[in-house]
Amino acid sequence: MTLLDAVTAAFVERAGRRPDGVWRAPGRVNLIGEHTDYNDGFVLPVAINRSVVVAAARRADDGFRCWSSRNGAGGCVGPVRRPSDIGPGRSTGWSAYAEGMAWVLRDQGLAVPGVDLMVHADLPAGAGLSSSAALEAAVGLALTELAGASADRVALALAGQRAENEVVGMPCGIMDQMAVLLGRAGHALFLDTRSQHTELVPFDPAALGLTLLVLDTRVKHTLAGSPYAERRRACERAAEVLGVAALRDVTLAELEAAAAAGRLDEVTFRRARHVVTENDRVLDVVAALRAGDLEPVGPAMAASHRSLRDDYEVSCAELDVAVESAVGAGAVAARMTGGGFGGSALALVPVAGADTVASAVADAFAANGFAPPAVFAVAVSDGATRLA
Ligand code: GLA
Repeated sequence: MTLLDAVTAAFVERAGRRPDGVWRAPGRVNLIGEHTDYNDGFVLPVAINRSVVVAAARRADDGFRCWSSRNGAGGCVGPVRRPSDIGPGRSTGWSAYAEGMAWVLRDQGLAVPGVDLMVHADLPAGAGLSSSAALEAAVGLALTELAGASADRVALALAGQRAENEVVGMPCGIMDQMAVLLGRAGHALFLDTRSQHTELVPFDPAALGLTLLVLDTRVKHTLAGSPYAERRRACERAAEVLGVAALRDVTLAELEAAAAAGRLDEVTFRRARHVVTENDRVLDVVAALRAGDLEPVGPAMAASHRSLRDDYEVSCAELDVAVESAVGAGAVAARMTGGGFGGSALALVPVAGADTVASAVADAFAANGFAPPAVFAVAVSDGATRLA
């Protein structure tokens, strides 16, 4: 059954009527540019062919109700929430992402109608593949169109980030929401998070004879907790000491000079060094892809992973084993992707070697006493769309 059929059937069963429409938003894999987006830096994500779909219909009243088919047959049954029930400090759990979008869009003056929503997905949650941003984008498109308005994708991405920052309480940057709304098949999205300028850079693994593998460690990451926020604060501290608006504005030489002069403690220095060097790596990979030269991509991804592991300290044993075993079995490039602390790594693998790499990663997990990973190929796909 397609996602469209599944979400439509689930909606009809719950609501007893047909949805007014169905919207899809993909997950994302970030090729490079990790923990740079809240430093006004550069990122290079791709949208993938694993998605969240939302079937929605207007209600006669102003209620907001959200169901999910995620937890098996019965799914999650949401209560009907009045507009005054939703928003910062009032919305909790998974539906806070959806309610958060309704709250932000209303706050921005959109006449969001009462709706019933059914959420369905083939994108794993908590795997570092942006299921949160996908849910925000699909719900955001649904609510905008049901309100009779047309969606500005950058504005919707910013609304999703605001829902997450203010309603969910996760101080994320803008990468994920932009990736799932502006991604395009056959391309990576090069985003300057300061200017919000985007460029679609041709990137088609299949045309290069490669498969893009997701190595999901199945270690659930919870980014709403303190480590992500703590990293963000370290970056802000470093920028303040250096007298710049954001770490985007710092060179490695300036950073090293500040550390040598005793103006930065050792941990803050390493956090900042990750961000400064990662921004350079994004620019290198973009230049390589533009030139159709894959050669620099493997070393850049390897350096990114090491920097996230050693300087930024957001990797974990499972991510390190996934990356090392994938490269050992023939991946041309691999690194953790997303926020870290669990979640997924990515590997670019010659098509003929994909099974070998998948087995090698599974074997390495078993040898280390880890629970089995989920390894699957993804295609680079389009950003959020209306399906019906
Ligand atoms: C999470 C956040 C993003 C970004 C990444 C790390 O996915 O939602 O904004 O900060 O972590 O690159």
